[in-house]
Amino acid sequence: MKKPIAVLISGSGSNLQALIDACAKPGYPAKIVLVISSKDDAYGLKRAEAAHIPAQAIRYKDYPDRDAFDAALHAAILASGAEVVCLAGFMRILTAGFVEKWQGRMLNIHPSLLPLFKGTDTHKAALLAGIKIHGCTVHYVTPEMDSGPIIAQAAVRVMPGDTPQMLAARVLEAEHLIYPLALARVIAPESPQAAVSATMVIGI
Ligand code: GRF
Repeated sequence: MKKPIAVLISGSGSNLQALIDACAKPGYPAKIVLVISSKDDAYGLKRAEAAHIPAQAIRYKDYPDRDAFDAALHAAILASGAEVVCLAGFMRILTAGFVEKWQGRMLNIHPSLLPLFKGTDTHKAALLAGIKIHGCTVHYVTPEMDSGPIIAQAAVRVMPGDTPQMLAARVLEAEHLIYPLALARVIAPESPQAAVSATMVIGI
């Protein structure tokens, strides 16, 4: 039985694509039943459409406040039958009430080795700090942003002369590797898809 999941995006959706590709492989323990975008022009919506996955935009500006927006998200996810939620570049801060409803069943991918560099502009911050190893983290979502229990991390080298864009591209490749791995680890820890397959991936 494949676990039904919902993926929430706001932009390009390259992590969504990594999850779509993983779900298409035989034996992968999840199936994407819904994609929600907070922006109606997100390229990720086209990726969902191409993969024949139900997708919809739920825009913050169509709701009076954050509680109403999050209630709309919650209703759409429940209606889809999804049991796990993956945030993949979803650029809205969720209310504590929403997070608590999905706690233990909602994952996020963040482009740094948490707890370093929470928030945005992580690649610029990493370069300014002068660190030599950077990376990405898949973690459970808790009400405090970028602070939930870590599920998996992947490390990449910071190269001399890197710009934030160059570093972001290297980290993004690692993101695409660990998000499907971390999701499999959460929903089917015994499955072969949950096994660590890369030396630079570190996880529970
Ligand atoms: C990724 O870097 C992810 O870590 C961050 O937002 C970006 C989304 O990229 N949360 P994409 O839309 O998956 O291409």
